[in-house]
Amino acid sequence: SKGNHRHYMLKEIYEQPVVVAQTLRSYLRRMEDQVSLPVPDFDLGTIRRVTIVACGTSYYAGMVAKYWFEQLARVPADVDVASEFRYRAPVMEDGGLMIVISQSGETADTLAALRHARSEGQKIAAVVNVPTSTMAREADLLLPTHAGPEIGVASTKAFTCQLAVLAAFAANLARAKGRLDAKAEKELVRHLAEAPAALNAALAYDESIEAMAHLIAVARDVLYLGRGPDYPLALEGALKLKEISYIHAEGYAAGEMKHGPIALIDDKVPVIVLAPSGPLFEKTVSNMQEVQARGGKVVLISDYDGVQAAGEGCIATITMPKVHPLIAPMVYAVPVQLLAYHVAVAKGTDVDQPRNLAKSVTVE
Ligand code: M6R
Repeated sequence: SKGNHRHYMLKEIYEQPVVVAQTLRSYLRRMEDQVSLPVPDFDLGTIRRVTIVACGTSYYAGMVAKYWFEQLARVPADVDVASEFRYRAPVMEDGGLMIVISQSGETADTLAALRHARSEGQKIAAVVNVPTSTMAREADLLLPTHAGPEIGVASTKAFTCQLAVLAAFAANLARAKGRLDAKAEKELVRHLAEAPAALNAALAYDESIEAMAHLIAVARDVLYLGRGPDYPLALEGALKLKEISYIHAEGYAAGEMKHGPIALIDDKVPVIVLAPSGPLFEKTVSNMQEVQARGGKVVLISDYDGVQAAGEGCIATITMPKVHPLIAPMVYAVPVQLLAYHVAVAKGTDVDQPRNLAKSVTVE
């Protein structure tokens, strides 16, 4: 049931601190400060390349995970949308691991990519939310998310749980490759373990996000900008808004703005900037200022320090807790979900059953 919530989507957004904690519990051994994953029947240390395949929001989780596989494990990682992967004659060499990511575990394109990779001799890991699903059964290594049933067509809690699993798995692969010593592992585990509390803190801004939703609800087009692991979050924010409010939205890598999309900027196109303070902050802010210099209306999502440093001149700011960059993509998922939700409610759309969409897409 929806409990006290008006929609399943809102209920599922609010469940995130609990279900991410639940998911992390099965992947972290807190007492020993270690990640602990199911042991596959192949040697993880022999994995030389990772290919991540998924659709929609699950694909964006894969885009974030690419950073982790490359940064932590130094294993080359490709990410592809499942419907593209199969038809481009992808090169699959020995020592390749395919990771499929799917809430339902039944998405036809992703399943077809899994079967294709298997026939080419790849090992398969599946990050799925439905443990009895076809993908779960067909994988060599099952990495369940423990998000519980997700009813809203717009995926929310499945996404943050996918990120939790993928971060733990990237750390596990890094360890297997001899790239993560005990001290680094301990720090990583500590940062991951902070995610549930940080998600909770992010939810506290629900009312202020609701209060600014009218600024976005009147727009015809909205842009989302992010850099590094927050770039996929910009894509996710735009997808959420399109799906449930029917407002045209696009996500861009912040640095790409000046290569074209900045031509769209005027005072009618709100630009949502995702910029946690940290190593990429200054660069993102200078892209944001390019937008403002052309009359663009910016909503800045950052932490207290970021909002202090760059919030002036924005039409609104949303202050997130200050978190380690590893968990920022999880935490910043919350404001983009809530913003899409409140804009959709303001527009009076059917949040849980948006037009033309199905929860599980079982045709190619
Ligand atoms: O069940 P899956 O994770 O494989 O589904 C993939 C996409 O269909 C799904 O994420 C879709 O994009 C959602 N409606 C996004 O909110």
